[in-house]
Amino acid sequence: MATVLAIETSCDETAVAIVNNRLLRSSIIASQIPVHSRYGGVVPEVASRQHLETINEAIAQAMEQAQLDWGEIDGIAATCAPGLVGALLVGLTAAKTLAMLHNKPFLGVHHLEGHIYATYLSEPTLEPPFLSLLVSGGHTSLIYVNDCGDYKTLGETRDDAAGEAFDKVARLLQLGYPGGPIIDRLAQQGNPQAFSLPEGKVSLPSGGYHPYDASFSGLKTAVLRLVQQLEKQQQPVPVKDVAASFQDTVARSLTKRAIACALNHGLDTIAVGGGVAANSGLRQHLQTAAAAHNLRVLFPPLKFCTDNAAMIGCAAADHLNRGHTSPLTLSVQSRLGL
Ligand code: KG4
Ligand code: ZN
Repeated sequence: MATVLAIETSCDETAVAIVNNRLLRSSIIASQIPVHSRYGGVVPEVASRQHLETINEAIAQAMEQAQLDWGEIDGIAATCAPGLVGALLVGLTAAKTLAMLHNKPFLGVHHLEGHIYATYLSEPTLEPPFLSLLVSGGHTSLIYVNDCGDYKTLGETRDDAAGEAFDKVARLLQLGYPGGPIIDRLAQQGNPQAFSLPEGKVSLPSGGYHPYDASFSGLKTAVLRLVQQLEKQQQPVPVKDVAASFQDTVARSLTKRAIACALNHGLDTIAVGGGVAANSGLRQHLQTAAAAHNLRVLFPPLKFCTDNAAMIGCAAADHLNRGHTSPLTLSVQSRLGL
């Protein structure tokens, strides 16, 4: 029964958590969003520096919140890939140092495996197999979860991630960063049928379309053209209707693929994760479609969907319980498949 201190610094959250298997003992998340929003997106160099300035205090706070001493910690984990290299290095180096200092097993965790494990924090009795739909700023994946460490990616985005598409469309509508929550709020006051936008299908060499892969860059370009056309005609851009039509297209596209993937693989549960899991349109479409097909869909609370260290700890605990560890020579990688 592993109690793990875990660190997550792959992007713009400095996060430290302590979990006892699937039970959360403490969680600290220092968000850098206010720092990056003035640049309209994450600046890697700024992110690394912020992690460095925050990490020690976050570790101390996580230990204090859990009211544990180092003797009660069974292992130290950190995200090792994928992500911003300089940002990842801060967390991984801190974890290695703690492991050496306190003579504990060390484990590097794949960021996406962490997102998969986030569901267990709110659904501790969940057991594989299930389908994981990961929709974040960096990823859009459909993953068959067969067991701890046994994953098969069945669908991906061929270009922009879902959250990235929200952020880019928000930027072209001059709405601010991060765009997802802003578009979501505006979309709820707009007409999703106001504009017909292309869903973005991925063609197969053999003909037809890939059933699970998605593409969002064409949709983003279509929104850009629509806005340019309206401006050329000197018409005001109906931002709420554009947001609603865009969001509806993304939600329908993700829902269709996730439902088909679950049904075709005989899975009865879809566990959603990543920041876009907060999206009201996606929640609505997916819940309705899942109910119609007798599927269970799990949306963990947002604090476990967006980047956090509890999910990394939860994955690490499962691995440590199975005797898995990483060498202290493990390095970070900006890109790495699951
Ligand atoms: O999982 P996350 O915190 O970080 C990554 O691993 O990328 O996801 C952040 C992404 C951002 O692109 C943000 O715009 C999007 O999640 N997001 C949303 C919503 N809340 C956050 N997208 C759509 N609707 C939302 N309500
Ligand atoms: Zn993430």
